[in-house]
Amino acid sequence: MDGTQRLKIAVQKSGRLADSSLDLLQRCGLKLTRSKDRLFCYGENMPIDILLVRDDDIPELLIEGVCDLGIVGENVAEEARLGLHANERDPGYRTLKRLDYGACRLAIAVPETTAYTGAADLDGARIATSYPSLLKHYLAERELNAHVVQLSGSVEIAPSLGTADAICDLVSTGATLTANRLREVDTVMASQAVLLGRDAELGEIKQSELERLLRRIDGVLQVKESKYVMLHAPREALDEIKRLLPGAESPTVLPLEGRQDRVAVHAVCRETVFWEHLEDLKGAGASAVLVLPVEKMLD
Ligand code: PRP
Ligand code: ZN
Repeated sequence: MDGTQRLKIAVQKSGRLADSSLDLLQRCGLKLTRSKDRLFCYGENMPIDILLVRDDDIPELLIEGVCDLGIVGENVAEEARLGLHANERDPGYRTLKRLDYGACRLAIAVPETTAYTGAADLDGARIATSYPSLLKHYLAERELNAHVVQLSGSVEIAPSLGTADAICDLVSTGATLTANRLREVDTVMASQAVLLGRDAELGEIKQSELERLLRRIDGVLQVKESKYVMLHAPREALDEIKRLLPGAESPTVLPLEGRQDRVAVHAVCRETVFWEHLEDLKGAGASAVLVLPVEKMLD
């Protein structure tokens, strides 16, 4: 098959989403070999290639048609979309799927020692950020006049350098803010990893490959939380037991040899199974409770 029929996916080279994104694609069954310069991964068993790039470049690679798909944080996708919109350009890409990892938020933070009573305090302030469009949108919605100081990195040190009074940056664990004696005061946008796709027609072969990939991603996302639960239950407590199984659709009920009063229940639980759930099940009369991981799922 010639190279033009291979799906090209742009993925962050290093950073918060890099490892999880490659991990997701590998869980979809994709076997990858990395090029010597480590900027390209060749899909051995599927017609899919990965380009490893800076996340901020991914929207542009889609617009230019260099890649068909890209994995970025919603913050990057939205920043690019607003920037294009301001220049009356059509993004030409859309969000195909939210991927349930890389959760973080774009937030406003001020020095720990700065008093802050509300967004109005930002009026007239200098705010450093790598997300000028999202920040301007936030300020405009609140009718605030602030000076946006655009930086490409190390935003968190701007207040201690005296070049800004506040920052607007991504926060995940909050460790970067703490290390820089900054305090989070407001959320501009919540974000997670998303799969972006070009609006343009892909052609039949690539389109069907994309559909297969999307189905497999759904499968991977579903099994992430899913567990296979097996237990023994008193027959008369069956309704209660079914109710207590988190996210189980229609459990299988099986007779137990030589027991009229107890049955075996097998269920796929599509929500996280916590210890509390197991304790509640036991309280309702369940015994021999087993929780097993689900390896693959195809609905
Ligand atoms: C973000 C942000 C902070 C850090 C916050 O950078 O700029 O430096 O993550 O994370 P924490 O709250 O867990 O400390 P990111 O890794 O997204 O890199 P990039 O902005 O250069 O793409
Ligand atoms: Zn980035």
